[in-house]
Amino acid sequence: RRPARRPQVLFPFLLPLFYRALCEPIRYSIPEELAEGSVVGNLAKDLGLGVLEVSARKLRVSAEKLLFKVDAESGDLLVKDRIDREQICKERRICELQLEAVVENPLNIFHIIVVVEDINDHAPQFDKKEILLEIFESISPGVRISLDPATDPDINMNSVKDYRINPNPYFSLMVRVNSDGGKYPELSLVKSLDREEQRSHRLILTAMDGGDPPRSATVRIEIFVKDTNDNSPVFSKEEYRVSVSENLPPGSSILQVTATDQDEGINAEINYYFRSTAQSTRHVFSLDEKTGMVKNTRPLDFEDTERHTMEVEAKDGGGLSTQCKVIIEILDENDNNPEIIITSLSDEISEDSHPGMVVALFKTRDPDFGGNGEVTCNIERDIPFKIFSSSTNYYKLVTDGVLDREHTPEYNVTITATDKGKPPLSSSITITLHITDVNDNAPVFQQSAYLVHVPENNPPGASIAQVSASDSDLGPNGHVSYSIVASDLEPRALSSYVSVSAQSGVLFAQRAFDHEQ
Ligand SMILES: *[C@@H]1O[C@H](CO)[C@@H](O)[C@H](O)[C@H]1NC(C)=O
Repeated sequence: RRPARRPQVLFPFLLPLFYRALCEPIRYSIPEELAEGSVVGNLAKDLGLGVLEVSARKLRVSAEKLLFKVDAESGDLLVKDRIDREQICKERRICELQLEAVVENPLNIFHIIVVVEDINDHAPQFDKKEILLEIFESISPGVRISLDPATDPDINMNSVKDYRINPNPYFSLMVRVNSDGGKYPELSLVKSLDREEQRSHRLILTAMDGGDPPRSATVRIEIFVKDTNDNSPVFSKEEYRVSVSENLPPGSSILQVTATDQDEGINAEINYYFRSTAQSTRHVFSLDEKTGMVKNTRPLDFEDTERHTMEVEAKDGGGLSTQCKVIIEILDENDNNPEIIITSLSDEISEDSHPGMVVALFKTRDPDFGGNGEVTCNIERDIPFKIFSSSTNYYKLVTDGVLDREHTPEYNVTITATDKGKPPLSSSITITLHITDVNDNAPVFQQSAYLVHVPENNPPGASIAQVSASDSDLGPNGHVSYSIVASDLEPRALSSYVSVSAQSGVLFAQRAFDHEQ
C-alpha cells in the first residue's frame, strides 16, 4: 500500500546498490521557516553525482509530505514548502525530517535526514490577560505566591527563560524551577500590606525567552488586599457635650455620636452601647445601637440633676471597641414658683404694741437656678406693717405704725414672693393678724347732762330717770357700771334722796320730795 515497501522487496537483489543509502543517511541541518527556494545542500554532489547526471538519472526526492525538491540543473536540495518546527515536531527536542532521494539508471535510493532547528519564532504567552489575586492584609512578609507560568512553543534557549515584575515596594519576584525543568514565577511579599492605605496593587509580570533577540510577553497582576479587623472604630469627637432645656419633651433627639471604622464589611459595622453609666442616667436616656442617637425617655429636671455624664462604646463586628464621653447639661427653666413658708406667727397682737414688733417670721424657697431662683418679697402698702429681710431668703414681718383695735380689729396681710426669671413667677400667702384689745377708751355718756323733773310727793323708791354710757373697748374693758360720784348735797344727805343702779344706770327717788319745805 505504501510506496516505501517496494525497496524492502527489492532489498535482497539490490543490496550493493543500496549500500550507501542503508548505511549512512545524508544529514542536513536547517533552521525552520526558511524561505521557499532556499538551498538546503547540494544533494547531487553529496551523492557523488555529476551535474549532467542530475537530469539524466532524474534525481528527485520523495517523502510522505514533500517539503523539499531538487533543482534539476544544480542538483541542490531546495525548500519547497513552509517548514514549521513547532507544527511538525511539536515539543520534541530533536526534530528530524526523513526523505528519500531516488535516481534511475540504475535505480537507487538514498536516505536523507533534514534536521530542523528551532528559531525563536514564538514569544512566550500567558494564558490569561490578567491575573487576579486576593491576599489578606494580615499576612506577613516572606509569604510566597506561585503564579502560572507563561508558555513558549520554542525549545531550549528559545523557550521561557526569565520572569520580571516592575519595581514596587511590596512584592519581589523569584523564578523557580519545577520538577520537569520548567520555570515558573513566584511572588514574595517584602512589606506588610495595609488595605486601609492601599486596597489593591497592580503589577506587570514579564516573561522573556532566551532567544536572540529575546521575545517577551506581559500580563497584568491585580492584587486585592482583603480586610482583616485591624482598625478600631474612631469617634468623631472624644467628648460630646450638649446643653438642653429642662422642659425638652420626652422622646426628643438630643445628640448623635458617630464613629467610623476604616475596615470594611462586618469589620466596619458599628454598634453603640452605654458603658460605665449610672443607672439613674440610663433610666432617663436611650441610645440607638445602630445610629448612636441619644434621646431622653423621660422629662428632664434641672433641679434633680444638672448634668448627666455617660460613656458610650462603639464596637465593630470584629469585636474591637472605643469609648467616648457624652455630657448632657440641663439648662434651668423658670419652672418653679417661689414658695413662702411661715415659720412663726403671733396669733394676737396687742393694739398698744410699739412699732417694730415682730409679728411673723417666714422664709422663701425657689429651686430654680440663678435669677430664676432669686426671690424678693412684698406686702401691700397702707397697712401698719412692713417686712424686711434678716438674711438671704429669711424675712420678718413687723408692726409699722399705730394699731387701734377699735378701728381695725384684724388685718389680712398678703405676702407676695416673686423671682427674677423671664417671665417672673410669683406666689402669695395671706395671713390674718388679730389685734387684741387694751382698755384705752373711757365710757362715754350719751348726754353730757341730764335734767330730770320729779313731781313732789312722789312715792319713794320710784325710778325717776336713766343715764346711759357706752365704751368701745372689748369685754370687761367695755363693760360700764354707774355710780354717783358727786353732788351739791352732802354725801350722806344725797344717799337719802337718790340712788343709781350700777348695772342699768336707772335713778331711783329714795323719799317723797317736798317742793316747799
Ligand atoms: C380676712 O380674710 C377672711 C377670710 O378670707 C375674711 O373672712 C375676713 O373678712 C377678712 N378680713 C378683712 C379685714 O378683710
